[in-house]
Amino acid sequence: MGYWREATGIKGPSGFGSGNTAEQVTEGIDASGLTVIITGGSSGIGAETARVLALRGAHVIIGARNLEAANTVKQNILSSIPSARIDIIQIELSSLKSVRGFAEKFLAMDLPLNILINNAGVMYCPFQLSEDGIEMQFATNHLGHFLLTNLLLEKLKITAEKTGIEGRIVNVSSVAHVYPYKEGIMFDKLNDKKAYNDMSAYGQSKLANILHSNELARRLKEQGVNVTANSVHPGLIKTNLGRHAACFMIILRALTFVLWKSIPQGASTTCYVALHPSLKGVSGKYFADNNLEKPTKMARDDALAKKLWEFSEELVNSKS
Ligand SMILES: NC(=O)c1ccc[n+]([C@@H]2O[C@H](COP(=O)([O-])OP(=O)(O)OC[C@H]3O[C@@H](n4cnc5c(N)ncnc54)[C@H](OP(=O)(O)O)[C@@H]3O)[C@@H](O)[C@H]2O)c1
Repeated sequence: MGYWREATGIKGPSGFGSGNTAEQVTEGIDASGLTVIITGGSSGIGAETARVLALRGAHVIIGARNLEAANTVKQNILSSIPSARIDIIQIELSSLKSVRGFAEKFLAMDLPLNILINNAGVMYCPFQLSEDGIEMQFATNHLGHFLLTNLLLEKLKITAEKTGIEGRIVNVSSVAHVYPYKEGIMFDKLNDKKAYNDMSAYGQSKLANILHSNELARRLKEQGVNVTANSVHPGLIKTNLGRHAACFMIILRALTFVLWKSIPQGASTTCYVALHPSLKGVSGKYFADNNLEKPTKMARDDALAKKLWEFSEELVNSKS
């Protein structure tokens, strides 16, 4: 799974490795004609991704539930890049109503949309149901992004067609997709408190991120549209993500310290997949450390990806 590259910083076939920052992998790229949406841009990897995309000239729309935090990120970016174009729209990804509201507000702005980065995430939280009655990690990390992508897909396709510039969707997954529930996605007991395990539920949601982008890529290819979909593992980075498992994170960091990255390094794979010209036409793939990686067998299971898509579609439609 490329741990050797993470530990050694050795560069892979792309010419980049785990040690490269988001600025390095996007050096010389002009994104000034592009509009990008990034969820969870108010903290951690998302905030750095937003900064580097703005640095390359993109118009960045930050989707965040905490407007104050998002505004601080915006002000910080503007203080170092006065020409940055940043807008903020509120989104609570665990609420399907809020996701619909975000899409409505964005579409009303009548902007093009070139890149969608599904980055927001929550990890290892205690069992909780969303306002729609869905387990919180699945609702936030997968289902909210599934709906958001569907609501913005037409805009991505139209923009790609009008401009001739390839549209890109990037799902921020994790190496944690390796540890889902035994059956991968626990379709039958998704919202069952007794069956809940916080780590397996996170693994399940991150597996869902990869399956989602794979099935999406398949559908986009079938439709013959100029939009790609890929997923990434950003690496191990100290951010607010560990807030629900502080002790576990301290132990994990102590045991795996050679693998950990800085936030600028952590944002690099997302920025690479979102912007790099060498990935033109590449779709349905998984990346880590700025290189193509092979996810688990379950994450490559096309039938599971199709089942998850249909399950998610039904769930979202039942809550409309
Ligand atoms: N850090 C790592 O080592 C690591 C490793 C593998 C994968 N990842 C993935 O990388 C992504 C970014 O994580 P990070 O490390 O940058 O963590 P982070 O600093 O906690 O950032 C997560 C972002 O997601 C937002 N968010 C969480 N729940 C949300 C909700 N219900 N609605 C709207 N926004 C929500 C957070 O907003 P608030 O600040 O309001 O909570 C925050 O802006 C996640 O998808 C994570 O799974 C991270």
